[in-house]
Amino acid sequence: MFDHRTLRTAALTALLLAAAGAAHAQQADPSRGNPLATPDASGWLQTSTPSGRIDHDNPFFQGFGSNGRSCDSCHRQAQGWTVTPQELRQRFARTNGMDPVFALVDGAVSPLADVSSVAARRSAYAMLLNRGLVRVGMPIPANAEFRLTRVDDPYGYASAHELSLFRRPLPATNLIWLTAVMWDGRETFTPFRPPMDAGIDLQNLRSSLASQARDAILGHEQAASAPSDAIIDRIVEFELHLVTAQMDDNAAGRLNEGDAMGGPNILTQQRFWIGINDTLGGDPTGDAFDEKTMRLFDSWDMPAQFTRDRRGRARAAIARGEKLFNTMKFNITGVAGLNDVTGLPSIRGSCSSCHNAPNIGNHSAALPVNIGISDASRRTPDMPLYTLTNIATGKRVQTTDPGLAMLTGKWADIGKFKGPILRGVAARAPYFHNGSAATLHDVVDFYDTRFHIRMSAQQKSDLVAFLSAL
Ligand code: HEC
Ligand code: HEC
Repeated sequence: MFDHRTLRTAALTALLLAAAGAAHAQQADPSRGNPLATPDASGWLQTSTPSGRIDHDNPFFQGFGSNGRSCDSCHRQAQGWTVTPQELRQRFARTNGMDPVFALVDGAVSPLADVSSVAARRSAYAMLLNRGLVRVGMPIPANAEFRLTRVDDPYGYASAHELSLFRRPLPATNLIWLTAVMWDGRETFTPFRPPMDAGIDLQNLRSSLASQARDAILGHEQAASAPSDAIIDRIVEFELHLVTAQMDDNAAGRLNEGDAMGGPNILTQQRFWIGINDTLGGDPTGDAFDEKTMRLFDSWDMPAQFTRDRRGRARAAIARGEKLFNTMKFNITGVAGLNDVTGLPSIRGSCSSCHNAPNIGNHSAALPVNIGISDASRRTPDMPLYTLTNIATGKRVQTTDPGLAMLTGKWADIGKFKGPILRGVAARAPYFHNGSAATLHDVVDFYDTRFHIRMSAQQKSDLVAFLSAL
């Protein structure tokens, strides 16, 4: 009999072995000009690639449309392959708001915004500059179970024909472990399933990413027609081989020292298959869910007497944070996609119940859920607010982004989004699909309030230390 746990698909093994082979080239100190390491809020981020370098000749870095943008306009290595408001503000200042990322089509608060002066551009591109948000324009689906009955769009543009949904670019890295493509999964070709040998659904993933890249070129880059399949394939191959994680922490030092397993080189070896460690018992190997989904810093779990120096204390905090992530229990209630699907109004769980892919942190099978990020109660004045009315029941709901419901038209899918991969998060603030959490502290505060956890200040800062080391 095969032991599924030691098996990977040939394709994944080839991808990851290639990446691991280059690992030795990357051991230089981050501060000594390693081009794969970039500074971020809490230390150094590193991307691992099979060649040991970033191939800037790849069409990922070339523009194919009329507006001068490339994938690199919104997916930057130094920002965890997304883009931060801070860097966008620098770009705005450098170019007086003329950098190609500042394009009316989806960079502005409305495609009709005035961009005739620097001051006008500053307000037109406020969502990019303040929160790193891109405007995704989508119509209410024709078959929807709901109607749009009120629009409160501060920018006077949105209608049922085109809602303005302000969303963060997702990282174009660590894609080999995706179980849904895009916040609402709309570029997932067909639902990913484990192949016979319990691996990844590579063909399906490739098709999804190819479709995503084509749509990005036609949409974000405003190309008149899609480039050749050969070009799309090169983009997909490039992004599919990127593996990114925090490698060095300002306080804790190298994240793979002392038997710890942080950093991207070890990440390339991570075991994964669709459904691995499924919370609800759906792991195709039949293995039960293990709440200890994060096992990177077990060896740093040191008693106080060994942790008197700053570095030791920082490492112990990260280890404590990891433990909290895995085992700190709270009642998960009111989460559409979870409580309703299981028929359990309250689930005693932890962060790892939803972020269950071992050492990666997304859900190991697609799980669109509504944790309340786009609820009316959390709306800020810069966000449009949509009132949706259920055609059958007359019920009303207000939301800043209907999420999955914009694809399926289903009332039950309003506000559902995927949980992203959590590696390399320190480099990519702000968080959640709408950038509503400015820092990882804000993320933790959100969960503390949303699920009535009542974390102590110490627990919060330990959890943040851990997230920052991913
Ligand atoms: C104007 C900014 C912008 C440009 C240019 C852009 N993207 Fe994106 N990208 C986004 C946004 C925003 C999202 C998330 C949208 C959503 O989920 O609704 C995204 C999502 C993605 C995802 C999904 C990742 C995941 O976890 O599901 C991939 C992959 C991606 N982009 C790759 C690319 C590629 C390849 C290109 C170039 C061909 C590109 N992007 C160009 C803004 C951009
Ligand atoms: C009920 C499922 C669920 C639980 C429990 C959960 N998360 Fe999440 N998490 C999600 C979803 C879904 C998102 C994306 C939500 C959105 O943007 O609308 C998310 C997003 C995040 C993000 C932001 C990632 C990014 O790139 O923006 C972080 C960080 C995070 N979660 C950490 C945690 C921590 C820490 C805990 C425990 C305190 C936790 N999560 C508990 C489902 C969950």
